[in-house]
Amino acid sequence: MMTQPKENPPVVNNQNSSLIIFDTTLRDGEQSPGAAMTREDKLRIARQLERLGVDVIEAGFAAASEGDFAAIRAIAETIENSTVCSLARANERDVRRAGEAIAPAARKRIHTFIATSPIHMEKKLRMTPDEVVDHAVKAVKLARTYTDDVEFSAEDAVRSEIDFLVRIFEAAIDAGATTLNVPDTVGYSTPAEWGARMAELIRRTRGSDRVIWSTHCHNDLGMAVANSLSAVLAGARQVECTINGLGERAGNAALEEVVMAVRTRQDVFGLDTRIDATQIVPISKLVSTITGYPVQPNKAIVGANAFAHESGIHQDGVLKHRETYEIMRAEDVGWTTNKLSLGKLSGRNAFRSRLTELGIDLASEEALNDAFRRFKDLADKKREIFDEDIQALVSEVHEEQVEQLKLVSLKVCSETGEVPMANLVISVAGEEKSATAQGAGPVDAAFVCIENMMQSGANLQLYSVNNITSGTDAQGEVNVRLERAGRIVTGQGADTDIVVASAKAYLNALDRLQKPAERAHPQMGDV
Ligand code: KIV
Ligand code: ZN
Repeated sequence: MMTQPKENPPVVNNQNSSLIIFDTTLRDGEQSPGAAMTREDKLRIARQLERLGVDVIEAGFAAASEGDFAAIRAIAETIENSTVCSLARANERDVRRAGEAIAPAARKRIHTFIATSPIHMEKKLRMTPDEVVDHAVKAVKLARTYTDDVEFSAEDAVRSEIDFLVRIFEAAIDAGATTLNVPDTVGYSTPAEWGARMAELIRRTRGSDRVIWSTHCHNDLGMAVANSLSAVLAGARQVECTINGLGERAGNAALEEVVMAVRTRQDVFGLDTRIDATQIVPISKLVSTITGYPVQPNKAIVGANAFAHESGIHQDGVLKHRETYEIMRAEDVGWTTNKLSLGKLSGRNAFRSRLTELGIDLASEEALNDAFRRFKDLADKKREIFDEDIQALVSEVHEEQVEQLKLVSLKVCSETGEVPMANLVISVAGEEKSATAQGAGPVDAAFVCIENMMQSGANLQLYSVNNITSGTDAQGEVNVRLERAGRIVTGQGADTDIVVASAKAYLNALDRLQKPAERAHPQMGDV
């Protein structure tokens, strides 16, 4: 049954001058290969998202696994100033799990979705359009028994028939949905097309003035941010986005780009957000460290070169008058010149209060002691300790609480004209093992030692080294991505010696590979 076009309803909510920022780093972002996060990682990111000022944190997909459920619940128990949301497919079990997971939250939302495009309904769901509407309505009604804040998404809206979208959105509003989300699930749209689709949905959907319209764009053609902003110009008042644009395949719209575009071009958008932009770079670094997804240097806002001026003409212009070549100030988005944080003589209290200033809450006294011991070790090797060093050091402390594989010692021999050799001792669940091997270089030799001992059979897909701060005494941060039987994991390690950092990263990835992966994917076929 086709819904007839209705008269233009007055758009009340959508005239708000505030844009709701819905962050899905912990859910869609986590769907990036190898970006799976522990409960502890998620909590740390959620705390930073709250500090950043995001309105809604999509904390995960509660029905995916016990681990996902527990992480959402822990976030719901901790976060006070952002709404905590769980995704749920449009079925009873998913909605109930979502409702239970978010129960302790001060502000809570259930985000339920079902696919609405002909290809998804026929081939994936094997449902008729009537059945899809029925599932959506039941899910929204059930979700409303857990919270007044219910979002409904029409997955693959970009390839859905507009009449069917109007029909299902009207049904969702009648069932009690308060936010309607229009996703470009496959990253197919263009800005003009996406804005027009949003405008038509807002104009034709009966009751559209009673809900917030939202957009969720993927970046397959590199247009996620442009499409999201076009939807905003057409009346959307919520943008779903992720830190660093992390997400399924080519990722989602990047939060930092959406926020800074709206803020810098007030003349175009006439809107603002609650975001404290000075927290953007710190959270970008945190997410990159935890997920092992490095930020490309020329990435807008958070890339290392985003505010660097290489050409003489540009440098000259910026020195004479900053605005000749800069439309934003680096410090406004959280870039600081490497800030000297602590030194060798700093005590435990100074260390503790610097952690607090950096927004790092260590779970226990034991974790604090461990971090302080690492800090002292680092201070023996490196004269000046920067905030970035402390952040890297602390991310290892969190990991270690559950690590089975640990580096005990490493000796490498690398000499011009000789084949490099490594001797490595590791601890496997408390038991020490050692190996000696040659390799193409010292890092390769260390990895061969680990593989000889562990026989993991994993393929090394990515190996990258970045300096955490500047200078030759800087710590190197290594990211390793391993694949085995289709499963991808990442591992990180940091040290002033990059061979040690590499061995730590490899062991960290192997440790994750050994743990069972029992999560369901939210967008899989069964509902
Ligand atoms: O891309 C998508 O359609 C999604 C939905 C679950 C909102 O992530
Ligand atoms: Zn998505």
